[in-house]
Parts: sequence; structure tokens; C-alpha cells
Amino acid sequence: MLIRTGRDGFQHPQSSEITPRAVYEDRRNLLKWMATGAAGAALATWAQREALAQQVQRPGKLAQLAVVRSTVPGAVTMEKVTEYKDASTYNNFYEFGTDKSDPAKNAHTLKTNPWTVEVDGLVKKPAKYALEDLMKMGAQEERIYRLRCVEGWSMVVPWVGFSLSKLVEKVEPLGNAKYVEFLTLADKATMPFVGSRVLDWPYAEGLRMDEAMHPLTLLTFGMYGEVLPNQNGAPVRLVVPWKYGFKSAKSIVKIRFTEQMPKTAWNKAAANEYGFYSNVNPEVDHPRWSQATERRIGEDGLFAKKRKTLMFNGYEAQVGQMYAGLDLKKNF
Ligand code: MTE
Repeated sequence: MLIRTGRDGFQHPQSSEITPRAVYEDRRNLLKWMATGAAGAALATWAQREALAQQVQRPGKLAQLAVVRSTVPGAVTMEKVTEYKDASTYNNFYEFGTDKSDPAKNAHTLKTNPWTVEVDGLVKKPAKYALEDLMKMGAQEERIYRLRCVEGWSMVVPWVGFSLSKLVEKVEPLGNAKYVEFLTLADKATMPFVGSRVLDWPYAEGLRMDEAMHPLTLLTFGMYGEVLPNQNGAPVRLVVPWKYGFKSAKSIVKIRFTEQMPKTAWNKAAANEYGFYSNVNPEVDHPRWSQATERRIGEDGLFAKKRKTLMFNGYEAQVGQMYAGLDLKKNF
């Protein structure tokens, strides 16, 4: 992602994400890079993350999280699952800071109980659901998804939840509802970076109605068979596996059905860099870097090979049809 600093909104990329890509690919650059001490810095970062992982407390199981294996086509990849310690200490959750380790360090202040999700807009049955009631709306399924971040890294995470479509059907959208907007908690008292200029708060995301109804779109309550840790978006988040990770809004408090395409936090911050669709697409570069390859977290040794990024993050067979006829370069 990018970070906005200063009054004029000057933007710069996370150097920790971008520098290694250029240097890994070229041995001469690598040697130069090592000489600058950056390799030492990368090792130090790794050591810090290991130390942080030792401190992370796992939230544990909930009776309501009795998990069944998902039968939704494409919902369970056979790829090696990322270690819990990596998935819970290398996060983007800008309400708690912009460094990857900030959410794990800071998100303990988030209060997830009681929690209510309000569903309104163009629906026949608007409602406010207590988390406990929301969780009972469907059987809790394990879905092992690839998550590809726009920054060029990826993970494989066993999420727990059920298709968002279950909730959508319950509230009965009206005929003119074309989009679904997701708004997340923005509580200055418990989220130290809300109020900072990094983004326009609350964090907002959106999906087209058919995307929201797609069985792979997961309303997520847990991971690794346990309740979501705060840094991963407790108590309820979205996971949309064929889109860049930033579509997967964390700590959702409001879901609204609209006729107009909703504004999203990253699109507001930099419209030329982050489009509404944000489908993973190795052929459409980010304006400042390629999207053709990715680094799998946990395989990030100095000489680890990059992986090729797959169209729609490998979910093309399941979701490609939704975008037939759409110019994906324009609608990025
Ligand atoms: N949701 C909120 N509320 N705030 C955020 O900053 N970051 C997004 C997304 N959801 C974000 C968010 C980004 S950029 C990514 S890549 C994923 O969360 C990261 O999810 P993870 O930390 O569980 O891997």
C-alpha cells in the first residue's frame, strides 16, 4: 500500500516491501543491497517478528466455532498453510499503525464484545445483528484460501466462516440494490491511528452484488479453527480470495446495500492505484510496481524464489465468468 504523509498528501511506498523485489532479481544489486546493510535490517526485522510471535496470545476456540469442512468449489486449496505466527504478526490494519508488526502489538485494545453489525440501505429487512446471532446464520466452514496483498506478498490461511450470501439472502435486497458497502469500526479511543491522515476513516470497502453473492466470498469469524485474533480483524471480517487483500475489510460494523458504486478507502486515497474491482491480475501492473509475482510469507529467506501470481489469484474457474466482457485494464 502507500502511506500518506504531510499536509500535501505526499505519498511513498513501503520501502521494506519494494526494495527486496528489485534486488532479489539481480545478483549485482543484491550484493550492493547487502553492502548497504539492508540485508542485516531484513534479518533484524525477521528476528523481531519471531520475538513478537512468541508474545502473541491465541484467542482460543468458541463453542459456536465448531468447524465443518467447506464443500464450496475452490474453497480448500491444497497448498501449504502459512504458519499461525506469521499470519498473526505480519498484518495490515492501519487503524493500529502502518508497520506490519503494529497490529499484533497494538490491537489488544480493540473491544470485540459486545459487537453489533448493522445491515441497512436498499433491503426489505434492515436489521442490527448481535455478533452471536450473526454467527448462527450458517454452519462455520473451514476455507483454506490464498490471500494476495497488493504489495506483492501472499499467505495461505485456513479461515472460518460462511458465505456472505447467507446474510444477503436474509435481509432481502431490493431490485435496485447493485452494490454492497462495508464499513468498519473507527474508534479513536481504542484504535490509535484512527484520526491520522493515512486514510479517510472509517475504512470502507465495497463489492458488486454478484460478487457479494458469490459462494467464495466469506464472512469470517475465525482462523486456524479459533476465533480471529484482533489484529486479523476480530470479531468479523470479509475475505474475498480472488481480490487483493485490501478488499477484505476487518472489524465490520455496518453493511449497506446501495444503487451507486460505493467509495472505498484506498480508492479515495489514490484512485489511479487502487480501483474498485481490485481483482488479482498479474497482467495489470500497479502504477509503481509489477503484479506478476509474489513472495509467500514464511518462504522469505534471502534467496527464496518468487511465485508467479495467478489470474484472479487462482480462482479464475470459479469467478472469471462474472467479468466476461469487462475491460480488466480499465476496471482494475
Ligand atoms: N481492514 C481494515 N479495517 N483496516 C485495514 O487497514 N487492511 C487491508 C485488509 N483489511 C485493512 C483492512 C489490507 S491492505 C490487507 S492486505 C488485509 O486486510 C490484511 O489481512 P491480514 O492482516 O489478516 O493478512
